Amino acid sequence: MADRQKIIIDTDPGQDDAVAMLLAFGSPELEILGITAVAGNVPLKLTEKNARKICELAGKPETKVFAGAIRPLVRDPVSAEEVHGKTGLDGPDLPEPTMKLQEQYAVDFIVETIMSEKFGTVTLCPLGPLTNIALALIREPKIAKRIRQIVLMGGGFFEGGNVTPAAEFNIFVDPQAADLVFRSGIPIVMMPLDVTHKALTKASRVEKFRKLGTRVGNATADMLEFFELFDERKYGSDGGPLHDPCVIAYLLKPELFSGRECNVAIETGSELTMGMTVIDWWGVTKRPKNALVMHDIDHDGFFDLLVERLGRL
Ligand code: BDR
Ligand code: CA
Repeated sequence: MADRQKIIIDTDPGQDDAVAMLLAFGSPELEILGITAVAGNVPLKLTEKNARKICELAGKPETKVFAGAIRPLVRDPVSAEEVHGKTGLDGPDLPEPTMKLQEQYAVDFIVETIMSEKFGTVTLCPLGPLTNIALALIREPKIAKRIRQIVLMGGGFFEGGNVTPAAEFNIFVDPQAADLVFRSGIPIVMMPLDVTHKALTKASRVEKFRKLGTRVGNATADMLEFFELFDERKYGSDGGPLHDPCVIAYLLKPELFSGRECNVAIETGSELTMGMTVIDWWGVTKRPKNALVMHDIDHDGFFDLLVERLGRL
């Protein structure tokens, strides 16, 4: 097999983060160097614990999990218990993890890893607010040139926002961090709501996870059945958007997605549109292209990939 892609998953689990982690664990093309937790959907104490629960569910207790930023760079913390439940991972009944949290600070781990791995080989996969990534760039700006790419879930344009009319949760929670990351010069692939709102956890798809007849399959079905409730009420759809696994799916099968290179700028000035990702889709400015912004997804292919890979765990 060709060299495995080295990745760091930066995450705030979250049921959809959890499914993204499971997809990565089920995929031998990927080498997970570490999982770094950040405050987001729920506070850090819970996101780091949830990350460990998912490692154990996947049968990968040897995975290194680190805790990072406890709050956004500038703004007050915002969480999303109304979507993810009190624990952040409501739905399945998962045991308390027994594997240890690493002592090293997640931001130091990110910096050290990128500085010590071969130039241009590490991909960052942020699935939550970009606080840890921004802090790493502040701590050691040299990492920017050494990172292969950032593939992230965040933002929205044609679909608007999901926490305000203008802003998507991950960018809204820490717009200053997002601004720094989008100005960093690192190649960015962005999975906005425009993509993830097309990847719906329809009942027939959830059933396929349950039919796997495994712990992972049942826990995934339980997670999705809880997680989709909020969005089904909001959008009146069959199923809710499965956001974060799009990031990992892109690494495995980029042909499932299509989009275009654009300039993306982050609103950090106006309260009304705070955290908006202003995407120059039509190229009406001369601002440099700084991200490959995805717009479409082969959603059947995406769910087939998920079921197949989770079925390996
Ligand atoms: C994003 O926000 C979180 O609630 C999800 O985990 C996802 O990363 C979607 O806006
Ligand atoms: Ca997330």
